[in-house]
Amino acid sequence: MGSPTRNGVAVQRNASGADPLASPEYFRDPYPLLAAVRSGGPVQRIRTGNGRTTWLVTGWAEARAALADARLSKDTARYFADRPSNRNLAPAVSRTLLATDPPDHGRLRKLAMTAFTPAAVARLEPRIRVLAGELADALAERAEADLVEGFAVPLPIAVISELLGIPEPDRAAVRRWSDELFAAAAPDTVDRASHALSGYLTRLIADRRAAPGDDVLSGLIAARDDGDRLSEPELVSLAALLVVAGHETTANLIGNGMVTLLRDDALRARLRADLALLPAAVEEFLRHDGPLTVATFRYATEPLVLGGATIAAGDVVQVAPGAANRDPARFDAPDSVRLGRAGGHLSFGHGPHHCLGAALARVEARIAFEVLLTRWTDIRPAGHGPDAVEWRRTRLMRGPARLPVTFVP
Ligand code: HEM
Repeated sequence: MGSPTRNGVAVQRNASGADPLASPEYFRDPYPLLAAVRSGGPVQRIRTGNGRTTWLVTGWAEARAALADARLSKDTARYFADRPSNRNLAPAVSRTLLATDPPDHGRLRKLAMTAFTPAAVARLEPRIRVLAGELADALAERAEADLVEGFAVPLPIAVISELLGIPEPDRAAVRRWSDELFAAAAPDTVDRASHALSGYLTRLIADRRAAPGDDVLSGLIAARDDGDRLSEPELVSLAALLVVAGHETTANLIGNGMVTLLRDDALRARLRADLALLPAAVEEFLRHDGPLTVATFRYATEPLVLGGATIAAGDVVQVAPGAANRDPARFDAPDSVRLGRAGGHLSFGHGPHHCLGAALARVEARIAFEVLLTRWTDIRPAGHGPDAVEWRRTRLMRGPARLPVTFVP
């Protein structure tokens, strides 16, 4: 990679000028490349696939500061309102809690929190254990199984569907729309999926309004704060965000954690012998190889200096939790897995947009590892072994595409 200078900072690009974060080496192991970018400074300009440049924040302290900086906006619609766009995304998908700035954000978030409390999540724990057990039973019938398709992906979908009260027969369609929204499919497909998902959720909310249940969606419909409540479009967009934000991320946390476990016989044995270590293991898996590598995005509403870099109004800033979590200025031996580390990873973000589903994701992952470690005497990598894992080819997220295993009964 050469490093021509612009605004006094390096523009990272490889010889062909292509996106350095979309190479086969990056998909296999993004951390050496992210460390190389960070070695040039904690905030660097990088070239993206579409030929534009964005600021990549790779230092832990700078990433944490950026995530809580009010000059960096999440409100793309307001910010880019004057730019031509040929997209026809449903507002429910483009105008979510995650794309709203204070003070509107605080109001929406407070209402959402009333139905999404840690206590509500704790009540789900027995049901999550049943769902995980059923998936493990189905895997146990096969000589060799894929943990991604057979466990890591379906578990979070089943959980969020139960949470929202999405009936079983509708779940495959909901998963397809959500995948299409995430997979950076062709713009037409993404637009169509956004309308299909928001149309579906609008009907589901109407049903739930007529006949409330004890699901989170009914709770959100009833949620009140000082007489305030969520409007119909706000409800639809919150439900859409819960569907989309929670499942691929959690699936990748389970998948990446299992890759680490399959590579480390001693760690598997240690966790199996002492399940009380699982919460610490989940935290370390989130830090060491979390689901979001170089998300998330913000837009500078005014010029600012971050980590020595001068960011202009209108510039896009991309915070890289995957890089910040391995910053040697924050974590000793950041590339190794050590349970019980202090330091605080940024995998769930930080500041006003800190992940609303963090408690749920933690419970799901803990139960997933508990079930996978205790259902059999052992679980071993099949085929070419965990060092030859086939990773998903996405820049923003990290997770195995397949994880073939065999079971020792
Ligand atoms: C926000 C990560 C699971 C719902 C976020 C953010 C991150 C994140 C980094 C902040 C984005 C930013 O600041 O720009 C993750 C990871 C997960 C996970 C790594 C799994 C391991 C979930 C689940 C749900 C969820 C299970 C819900 C069911 C949300 C929502 C927001 C959010 C609603 C927006 C919060 C706001 O804007 O105030 N998540 N998430 N996430 N996440 Fe998660």
